[in-house]
Amino acid sequence: MSLKTVRLKTHFLFLLYDRKGEKSREMNQEIDLDKLDIHIEPPTEEPDRQYYFMAKCREWAKDFERENGRLPKACVVNMGCQMNARDSEKLAGILEQAGYRLTENENTDFVIFNTCTVRDNANQKVYGRLGELNGYKRKNPHMKIALCGCMMQEPSALEKIRKSYGFVDLVFGTHNIYKLAELLWNSRQASGMLVDIWQETDRIVEDLPSDRKYSFKSGINIMFGCNNFCSYCIVPYVRGRERSRQPGEILREIKRLTEDGVAEVMLLGQNVNSYGKNLAEPITFAQLLREVEKIEGLRRIRFMTSHPKDLSDELIQVMKESKKICRHLHLPLQSGSTRILERMNRRYTKEQYLELAGKIRREIPDIAITTDIIVGFPGETPEDLEETIDVVRKVKFDNAFTFLYSKRTGTPAAAMEDQVPEVQRKEGFDRLLRVVQETAREQTARLQGRVMDVLIEEVNESDKSMVTGRLSNNTIVHVPGDASLIGKIVPAVLDECRGFYYIGHIEGQKL
Ligand code: SAH
Ligand code: SF4
Ligand code: F3S
Repeated sequence: MSLKTVRLKTHFLFLLYDRKGEKSREMNQEIDLDKLDIHIEPPTEEPDRQYYFMAKCREWAKDFERENGRLPKACVVNMGCQMNARDSEKLAGILEQAGYRLTENENTDFVIFNTCTVRDNANQKVYGRLGELNGYKRKNPHMKIALCGCMMQEPSALEKIRKSYGFVDLVFGTHNIYKLAELLWNSRQASGMLVDIWQETDRIVEDLPSDRKYSFKSGINIMFGCNNFCSYCIVPYVRGRERSRQPGEILREIKRLTEDGVAEVMLLGQNVNSYGKNLAEPITFAQLLREVEKIEGLRRIRFMTSHPKDLSDELIQVMKESKKICRHLHLPLQSGSTRILERMNRRYTKEQYLELAGKIRREIPDIAITTDIIVGFPGETPEDLEETIDVVRKVKFDNAFTFLYSKRTGTPAAAMEDQVPEVQRKEGFDRLLRVVQETAREQTARLQGRVMDVLIEEVNESDKSMVTGRLSNNTIVHVPGDASLIGKIVPAVLDECRGFYYIGHIEGQKL
């Protein structure tokens, strides 16, 4: 199998040198990586510089193929949230252009873990799986291992990797993932572990390749970082300050994706409601959504995450009027106790949250509201937990992700003295989970018998005669069907509610 010639379309200005050494600066030009001159000095501009290193890596991959009779393989493992997942797609895209074949098997030539550190168990998972990789590497000394993502931005984790996991070849963070090709090239020349971690960045590199996991849906970063500093949360420390992408860049990316068959986009940011505030020409998130709505061919728009303190009436209005924005809002509560919310630095009260959720339900009656809740934050008493349970009952969340509080070094909450004992945290967690499941079941059951559009996502894992999709409100539906339906939006009769999902059939088709 030989390396196919891949042409990368860029739709903006770029500076590159062709084989004749001539500089070209054109719009809408295609880059043919196999024609780039890789024997001259690398360009200084981005993303040109990275294309140069991808081309260099491709040459190496061809040598590998001559020696081994096959191209090198790479495995990208995503361990974090949707934002990390999108980063992983970019990493995979770069590796593909750098000459690798992608595989899901971790026992391979190049493995990269894109890590998360939001809770301690995420970190423990990385250490455990690194141990397994070490076993593979012992048998295959040519194997290369890389770590990147949020956990690598934490000095204590980095220290531990350096000290106890010396077999790792390359470590980088969240701010320089766009440099993977260059880092990969440099790490081949380096002896030992190459580490490149940036504390902060104000740059956003556009127009890098990406390898989408799904052909019909895609995440789109609209902003990076977070300025909120909720007192329990490590994200602002590992993802840096809030930076919004230019609306033009976002719209251009979505247009390109829809031309490529994408029906649903998920706009991603830690706090999408503050999108655009710091741009030279400020724009609100609601205004951005209005523009995204106009994109022809796009069928569904999702977004996450919304911070309650910044959710505007303008956004509710835009959602209400929209034909494409999905009937789903993820609105993290974290706690229902005003006292705890204050200690969490969330900047809203229980009453304000209830009022907001009530307004949303009134204005958009068919919407699903989902949430995140933390149990066992320092100082939380059983009475505080009752307040949270009260909010869950009143808002009737359609789904809720509940987390046990995890102490993150360096955050203000980690230094609070009244940490809750583990037993109490676990008891509270179980109690909350029962109530959350009650409301989620009730809410899901509301749709029994209705006919609603489902975007089919995949063939059902356990029953291959069924396919699985999602309603606009994010509820999962299984219907009889085959792989030809993947990516299509079909009307489904919601026959039977089974807890949190439905078994149905496509309208007009016999059961
Ligand atoms: N930006 C998003 C959430 C990012 S992290 C927001 O503001 O909602 C995802 C979720 O992880 C958070 O909503 C929170 O519920 C949870 N989380 C964050 N830090 C945590 C910690 N130290 N312990 C337990 N859960 C935490
Ligand atoms: Fe963390 Fe709060 Fe920022 Fe969300 S808004 S990422 S919880 S600091
Ligand atoms: Fe996401 Fe985890 Fe980082 S939740 S932003 S991958 S710490």
